[in-house]
Amino acid sequence: MTRILTYGTFDLLHWGHVRLLERAKSLGDELIVGLSTDEFNAEKHKEAYHNYDHRKYILEAIRYVDHVIPEKDWDQKIKDVQKYDIDIFVMGDDWAGKFDFLKDYCQVIYLPRTDGISTTKIKTDLEEL
Ligand code: CTP
Repeated sequence: MTRILTYGTFDLLHWGHVRLLERAKSLGDELIVGLSTDEFNAEKHKEAYHNYDHRKYILEAIRYVDHVIPEKDWDQKIKDVQKYDIDIFVMGDDWAGKFDFLKDYCQVIYLPRTDGISTTKIKTDLEEL
């Protein structure tokens, strides 16, 4: 059983997110998503349109996602990798190098981001309509 872990806010779920989740899941058997809580987003000065419960509900409806857990702070990753017996940690390559400290605990893979789409772009484009 190969377990994969990734983190993110996944607000206004879009095809770039789904492609990330699809490729992450294809690396193994079980995909766990650490979903940023509203409080953690506030700390990051990031405000999601959908609240945590709604983002979790949407993510759980995606066929590639097996479990959603809360991401409450920057320092929980090592504990999560150990607790959920994670084999591979995955993030988009906008985070390349940032989580290399996890290589002491599991494999770390940065997947290429999908061009041309982001939550920020959706918000900006809608403002211009
Ligand atoms: N991601 C991706 N391709 C995109 C957008 C996001 O692969 N076009 C990946 C990110 O690299 C990350 C995960 O999806 O691993 C969750 O990213 P998140 O920050 O929630 O989404 P963004 O659309 O980047 O949001 P924002 O514009 O608010 O930064």
